[in-house]
Amino acid sequence: MTEPTGNVPAVGGLAPGAAAGGLVPAAEIVVTEQSGAPAVNATADQVGEPAVVESVAASRGPLAMEAIGLNKVFKLGRGAVLQAVRDVSFNLYQGAVIALVGESGSGKSTVAKLLAGQERPTSGEVIVDGKPINVRNTRSFRAYKSHVQYVFQDPFSSLNPVHTVGYDLTRPVRLHQPGVKDVPAAVTALLEQVRLTPAAQFVVKYPHELSGGQRQRVSFARALAAQPTVLLADEPVSMLDVSIRLEMLNLLDDLRTRLSLALLYITHDIASARYFADEVLVMYGGQIVERGPAEDVTQHPAHPYTQLLIASAPDPDNLGSSLRAGNVVVGPGGAIAGKAGNVGPAQVGCPFSNRCPIADDKCRRENPALQLLTPVRAAACWRLDVAASPVAGGSI
Ligand SMILES: Nc1ncnc2c1ncn2[C@@H]1O[C@H](COP(=O)(O)OP(=O)(O)OP(=O)(O)O)[C@@H](O)[C@H]1O
Ligand code: SF4
Ligand SMILES: [Mg+2]
Repeated sequence: MTEPTGNVPAVGGLAPGAAAGGLVPAAEIVVTEQSGAPAVNATADQVGEPAVVESVAASRGPLAMEAIGLNKVFKLGRGAVLQAVRDVSFNLYQGAVIALVGESGSGKSTVAKLLAGQERPTSGEVIVDGKPINVRNTRSFRAYKSHVQYVFQDPFSSLNPVHTVGYDLTRPVRLHQPGVKDVPAAVTALLEQVRLTPAAQFVVKYPHELSGGQRQRVSFARALAAQPTVLLADEPVSMLDVSIRLEMLNLLDDLRTRLSLALLYITHDIASARYFADEVLVMYGGQIVERGPAEDVTQHPAHPYTQLLIASAPDPDNLGSSLRAGNVVVGPGGAIAGKAGNVGPAQVGCPFSNRCPIADDKCRRENPALQLLTPVRAAACWRLDVAASPVAGGSI
């Protein structure tokens, strides 16, 4: 990890993601124009030239997975549809953390489900090893599912209350590591990997006998039993006691380094993304509205939504207290309270236009595509020249 720049110290062993200086030529991500907008509750097509953005995460390791032009439209009945994800493209690289940041309803989990093959994209593709995933081919899809593991927000609901930890881990070891002869030893190794030691004490426990943090560690261990290359961690710390969030992020950071995992870290908390991720993708209304190196995006946010996210981050100076305070970045009744803009009446123009302090007529008419700011940064906004000014008190 690189040392943090600016006035924010590293906290708990976590430092901001790779700085732009460490770049190697990255795989290009082409953000294409959107087609075929649904009729109701949908955001408008994006307007503008496609942006080609390099990813700083590419300097960490080989390409693990590509999401190309993902769209997901849910049918709500009576002809109404909701576009949960719009034209989302990014890559995951081994050993790198990409943070997907946004408020509730912005489409983060839907993106993760598309990557995990739990939802099928309305259009667009997820590519692994140069091939699109094929959920219809049972055999290749089974192999894909062990390659990509999804860890949920709530460790309680994802663990079966009637099974012991030992049982929960034995099954995936048998399934995904058929060559392993000593299964109990493999289970012990998994528990040690997630620092649940002495392992013998934990194999006999039921979920209700564990703390929230210990349950989440068991969820990680279960995911690791599949020996994945990609880990999709959906709000992995938000349900945990505030005192152990940082510890848990440190564990994830350690795992991705040691196992060279490609990690998608989904969070509401842009402050934690700064300390943990190489690249940040900010989502609003189902689309990526800003992306770039974590340090850059959080220190110099370009998009009005990112600026407001950062301005409303509860702790301006350090991640440690933000995590300890357990704050939700977007507070009720505040300037950016409410659901992300993909729900409600038909949306035309920029999805953020009904909440943006600098929206003008064009914003209400046309939805901007991502525009390049530097080779590694992009934002989707018509008024970047005006928006570029820093938000008061908005550093993290
Ligand atoms: N199966 C579904 N059918 C209909 N709408 C759905 C479905 N799944 C998600 N949605 C809608 O899609 C939008 C995006 O949901 P998603 O769960 O991806 O958001 P999120 O960013 O993960 O939010 P949160 O932070 O609250 O978890 C929401 O408006 C949600 O209600
Ligand atoms: S200035 Fe316009 S385009 Fe930019 S975020 Fe605000 S509403 Fe959207
Ligand atoms: Mg979610």
